[in-house]
Amino acid sequence: MAEEKAYTQAATTGKYDKASGLLGKYDNVRRFWEDQLTGLFLRPALNDLVQRKLKNLERLRILDMGCGSGDGYDLIMDVNTKDPGLYEYITQAITPERLQSYVGVDVNQELLDQAAANYGNNPKMQFWREDLSAGLPERLKAQDPFDLYFTSYGTFSHFTQEQTIELVADICRHAPHRALFTGDWLGRWSYEWQDLWDAPVDSEYFMDYRISYIYPKEERDKVEVASFPLRLMCREEIDAIIKAAEIKSGCRIRPLKYFDRSILVGRHLETCDYNANCPALRTPINSLFESYTRTDLESLLVDYVPRPGFDHLNNFFEKFFMSTNALVKYTIRLLSGYNAETESFLDAPDILPFYAEPLKEAMHSMKRVIGGVGWLPWGDVRANVIEPHLGYSLRKLEMELQPGIGVGHSLSGIFEIIKEDEKSPA
Ligand SMILES: C[S@@+](CC[C@H](N)C(=O)[O-])C[C@H]1O[C@@H](n2cnc3c(N)ncnc32)[C@H](O)[C@@H]1O
Repeated sequence: MAEEKAYTQAATTGKYDKASGLLGKYDNVRRFWEDQLTGLFLRPALNDLVQRKLKNLERLRILDMGCGSGDGYDLIMDVNTKDPGLYEYITQAITPERLQSYVGVDVNQELLDQAAANYGNNPKMQFWREDLSAGLPERLKAQDPFDLYFTSYGTFSHFTQEQTIELVADICRHAPHRALFTGDWLGRWSYEWQDLWDAPVDSEYFMDYRISYIYPKEERDKVEVASFPLRLMCREEIDAIIKAAEIKSGCRIRPLKYFDRSILVGRHLETCDYNANCPALRTPINSLFESYTRTDLESLLVDYVPRPGFDHLNNFFEKFFMSTNALVKYTIRLLSGYNAETESFLDAPDILPFYAEPLKEAMHSMKRVIGGVGWLPWGDVRANVIEPHLGYSLRKLEMELQPGIGVGHSLSGIFEIIKEDEKSPA
């Protein structure tokens, strides 16, 4: 009886659930691609901020707006120092003792309860129910300034133009003499929603966003999937918001970086809800990162279908997918041409000089990795070493072959708020 009770208790905690990164909110793509890619783009500015604070004997204060279940905390705290050596094992830019406080705010109480359950034991973390649609709420304005005003995963797409300008202007007024601010919106030109590219660009456009991807394919049409409006954004629209917020607040906002997140792995690539020609890429890319799981690499190939009237976007996607396809095909050829007995390639295709530099680097690295570990007879090196490396190499292509204009699931901006007139330590 006691045993049965104990096992039942264990099962209901969820701790007995089979661990898999192939599905769900925290799938492999979210952890090893989306969070990491965001962190890699954030890394230079975050490291500079940490160094400046340390020099002034100060610690970091972070505000996470639309924090949901608090996942921004791990994303930020996992960002690495600039160049961690191979030997080091503590590599975070913000070690726990460098953090003074993290405040997460959201309107959704269920998500805040999850956040409290996940992080409630950390005395430096607080989660508050607040509505940001009318700017920074009084409770936040009454707090000491934050060093990083953070949003992620499309949170700003919940707001209209006017609401966003008001919120960004409030952030500027509240910020110290120098601070970082990140904004994240859904990208207007993602291949996932190619059917929506025709929406007029001279006015705000909110898509009807369905979270259909949380259901398995066979259930999607049978359940009533809830939807809500989310604004699609391109670079020019963000620039206009930043300009207006500068004028309103009297502060300078310097864009440090715009980046497209999830061109190749957006969640709606799986559903075809807004583009019937979408390739279901997230599943095989999740599989690349999954230990002891081999992937059908052919399923990573994209047969891009252009949309008439959008030459500049078609040109970008054509080149981008031809590059990812080239890397995948190259890897397939290397795997089929490797001889484990002689530890050499019977057949290795040429890396052509006119390929883009990131593609050439990715191909060279694939060859060196496969040549380096292909002979190893234990530990399934194809599933556990080679395929994850292909995943990281495709991610590298997404990072380095992108324009930062709204061609991914999200368009993110990293900005520095500068109040020149205030005399403060450098
Ligand atoms: C796409 S989710 C991102 C959640 C989280 N940052 C993450 O990393 O997964 C957007 C979040 O914005 C929150 N949100 C929407 N409108 C809001 C508002 N007016 N004020 C505060 N939060 C809001 C939602 O509740 C949701 O948690």
